[in-house]
Amino acid sequence: MENRVVLITGGAGGIGAAAAHLFAEKGASVVVADYVEEAGKTAVETLPEVADGHLFVQVDVSDSSSVKAMVEKVVEHFGKIDVLINNAGITRDAMLRKMTEEDWHRVINVNLNGVYYCTREVAPLMIEEGSGVIINTSSVVGVHGNIGQTNYAATKSAVIGMTKTWAKELGPKGIRVNAVAPGFINTNMVATVPEKVIGQLVEKVPLRRLGKAEDVGKAYVYLASDDASYINGTVLEVTGGLTL
Ligand code: CAA
Ligand code: NAI
Repeated sequence: MENRVVLITGGAGGIGAAAAHLFAEKGASVVVADYVEEAGKTAVETLPEVADGHLFVQVDVSDSSSVKAMVEKVVEHFGKIDVLINNAGITRDAMLRKMTEEDWHRVINVNLNGVYYCTREVAPLMIEEGSGVIINTSSVVGVHGNIGQTNYAATKSAVIGMTKTWAKELGPKGIRVNAVAPGFINTNMVATVPEKVIGQLVEKVPLRRLGKAEDVGKAYVYLASDDASYINGTVLEVTGGLTL
């Protein structure tokens, strides 16, 4: 990963922050791109040092002009982006009958439009370089659905569709595109799930535990590495076997 520039959206918290650490340990320069400023700056300050340093950029991925400005800042600073990880995501869970249009649109705007905006801005730079890796964060929920997550499931299934489409479009340009579909991972996102539901879930995981943020971060690192150079358009489930 030395001399590579890795942009991680949602890099200030949970899975994104764990991944930032793992990439920096391997010598990459990491761009932590996140909505929250203080946590983002702290995340960058605590990363293992590398020759070209790291960068925090504040962004709202659901706002196309903010995404454009983010990419401009990164290019001004590092001159390139080798790896894009579309990791930022949110939930607004409710049963179908209770889900408000606001909940629906907010999740679509961040988890679906955000992935589209970021990839649309970064892909041309990678095409110019003739190389690059894009990793999109889907979810077990995008493959199998989940009670209370109509909006979220819609976005995470869509991410798989976009991944496969971009793998076909961008593969000939030297760019690999894959998705990671985590199961239930112990971050702030899962902290919103009622304890009763978590208990039932863990029972269904053959490994009998929630995932750790690092478990997913390691999958990102693998897919971004040259060890995965013939892996394109796939969905890597990191679930502890939840869906078996
Ligand atoms: N499995 C089985 N039954 C469930 C269930 C589940 N996952 N979730 C809810 N239910 C049941 C409840 O037990 C309840 O049953 P009874 O009426 O028989 O008591 C019924 O559905 C209604 O549930 P609530 O009383 O909780 O209804 P609510 O309107 O207060 O809340 C909810 C609904 C917001 C969806 C809440 O149940 C909830 O938060 N569920 C968890 C949703 C979830 O799993 N989110 C994952 C977040 S993490 C994530 O998204 C990351 C990822 O990619 C995996
Ligand atoms: P988290 O809530 O701990 O971290 C998400 C990060 O994204 C936060 O730092 C937040 O500030 C940032 N973010 C949110 N909205 C943003 C926006 N509009 N612009 C920029 N940044 C924004 O969540 P977690 O668990 O680390 O999730 C990361 C990704 O993994 C998400 O896409 C999530 O859907 C996905 N995922 C998580 C699972 C879990 O169980 N935790 C399971 C499957 C997928």
